[in-house]
Amino acid sequence: MHILFLLASLLHAQSFPKNFKWCVATADHQIEGNDIHSDWWDWEKLDGKIKNNEHSGLATNHTKLYLKDIEIMKKLGIQTYRFSLSWSKIQPEQNKIDYTVLKNYQNFIELLLKNNIEPMITLHHFVNPQWFQAKGGWEMPDAPEIFLKYLKIIYPYIGKKTTLWTTFNEPMVLIGGGYIQGLMPPGKSGFQFEKPLVNILKTHAEIYQYLKAQARSEKREISIGFAHHIRFFQAQNPDNFLEKMISEKVNEIFNWAILDALANGRLKISIPFLISIDQDLPQIKKTQDYIGINYYTREFLYFSFRDFQFRRHFHPTNPRSDLDWEIYPTGLRQSMDEMKKRFPKVPLFITENGIADQTDKYRKKYIFEHLQVLQQAITQGLDILGYCHWSLMDNYEWIEGFGPRFGLYEVDYKTFNRKGRPSADYFRQIIEKNELIPIE
Ligand code: BGC
Repeated sequence: MHILFLLASLLHAQSFPKNFKWCVATADHQIEGNDIHSDWWDWEKLDGKIKNNEHSGLATNHTKLYLKDIEIMKKLGIQTYRFSLSWSKIQPEQNKIDYTVLKNYQNFIELLLKNNIEPMITLHHFVNPQWFQAKGGWEMPDAPEIFLKYLKIIYPYIGKKTTLWTTFNEPMVLIGGGYIQGLMPPGKSGFQFEKPLVNILKTHAEIYQYLKAQARSEKREISIGFAHHIRFFQAQNPDNFLEKMISEKVNEIFNWAILDALANGRLKISIPFLISIDQDLPQIKKTQDYIGINYYTREFLYFSFRDFQFRRHFHPTNPRSDLDWEIYPTGLRQSMDEMKKRFPKVPLFITENGIADQTDKYRKKYIFEHLQVLQQAITQGLDILGYCHWSLMDNYEWIEGFGPRFGLYEVDYKTFNRKGRPSADYFRQIIEKNELIPIE
């Protein structure tokens, strides 16, 4: 790490590196509205899948209000905006591309750049077109090919000026939600997740090679990564052998299986009698220019004798969000250290971090404590490129519906008015000064 920065930070312990990227993140389905050709649109209509059966509908009406949203980004002073493209809107049928949608994204990217905001594009954030899911989704052997074909079509519109890319958002959340727990489309449960997982990894590698080749031919540098959701599971009773064993297994599969595969070129997952995956995937080695970390909280696992099942819960006494998620900044440092062990030379990027907090009671504290962890890690030599707060504004929180409020900006879902919460101004000041500001 840059010796000058180390010296400077000794003089001024609170500041961030000069080119640190301050960022906010969103996802298409959660903010745009009218995602009528997506698998989630269908899923939301099924009774009982979403809290209070809330449908994403117009979401935050971002498709109409994108100018307002660029304005609030400017107010915050961010350098980078992480957002995703709606595959289902761009390609509503397998043989149909909606060029109006594509050109709107192109125009949006131009506007961001004009306002000195660097676009960070997520190519896949949980959602698929209905036709893709109907054909078999990520389980299809030709899923990587289908996605690449799509990428090649959209690249000339959205790719040429984009330098920061996230291929897949939280592949293990997609697998866990869609194929293990059955909480997200396609709603499968059990342990038959080898095919979709392998196909997602293969697609990632192909995207990586394609985008890199494009950038080389255009003589520019780009940076590509995954956004990995990291969440540590701990035994509620550390002396309980079974709870310990299960938590370690969950961590191994949920947090580390993909990262180890990316480091070793080999995907290995096993749960005795349930699943045994051992696949060579040499093509996925060295396909991360940065390691994206989405970090929110940690969880505890315990064995419930009432129903003879393993259950999850959050810390009983520490401060918790509206979703009951514990505020646990130490976990962010643990995540980064684990990444460093596997990829000593690859920089990190915090691609998501935030809290559901309608009244803004804890958000400043949450931001302060997580940034403090980052700051300390940077001073100790970790290379961290940037920090994206989740989220710019309240949005549709998947199976939780509109309840949880993750926004720096509050959204009134009747008028679609956006109103900065006090923490938005706090984040703005941090960005402006490029240093950590203590909370009163
Ligand atoms: C996802 C977001 C989600 C956020 C809060 C992340 O897992 O990428 O889409 O809204 O967490 O739950």
